[in-house]
Amino acid sequence: MPRPDRVVLVGMMGVGKSTVGKGLAERLGWRFCDSDDQVLAGTGRTIPEIFAEEGEEAFRAEETRVLAEALTGDEPVVVAAAGGVVLSAANRRLLAGSGVVVWLRAPPGVLARRVGDGSGRPLLDRDPERALVALETVRRPLYESVATITLDVDGHRPEQVLASLVEVLAGFGIGPGAAA
Ligand code: S3P
Repeated sequence: MPRPDRVVLVGMMGVGKSTVGKGLAERLGWRFCDSDDQVLAGTGRTIPEIFAEEGEEAFRAEETRVLAEALTGDEPVVVAAAGGVVLSAANRRLLAGSGVVVWLRAPPGVLARRVGDGSGRPLLDRDPERALVALETVRRPLYESVATITLDVDGHRPEQVLASLVEVLAGFGIGPGAAA
């Protein structure tokens, strides 16, 4: 059984990791950590600024640092990981031993409608749908390889996704206040 005091949400941009993660943390009474917010807090720069000034590699290093930091400590935590976190083998190893990893999954066409023109997300700033299709092809097996739970969010509102997740997590002994 994965450790019952950490839940990490992974999945593509626009799938709802931050919204569902925040709601889950509130429901459980646990700390919430959002990767992109932590990058901003740690660097004082937005993600588009980091990509423009230092490139994607520098951003990936930040993403890795934030993931490791989020998974340090004994306090129960819900983490909304950045979409690209699974690209690194070291991050995947870290995720595998980190707790319950939840892959929120939706087809690229659905994600494209959710992200709109892709603003604030440098990898999507030309043709969001095309970029999402390409990214998803590469990442799908990687998300699959780290996921303890897979939830299809297509056609469901965030509250419905949250309700399903709460139900599934109860099967792992995870519920409000409960962290062994
Ligand atoms: C990225 C996802 C974004 C953000 C950055 C790159 C990715 O986060 O970290 O724009 O490579 O999938 P969200 O998944 O929270 O949108």
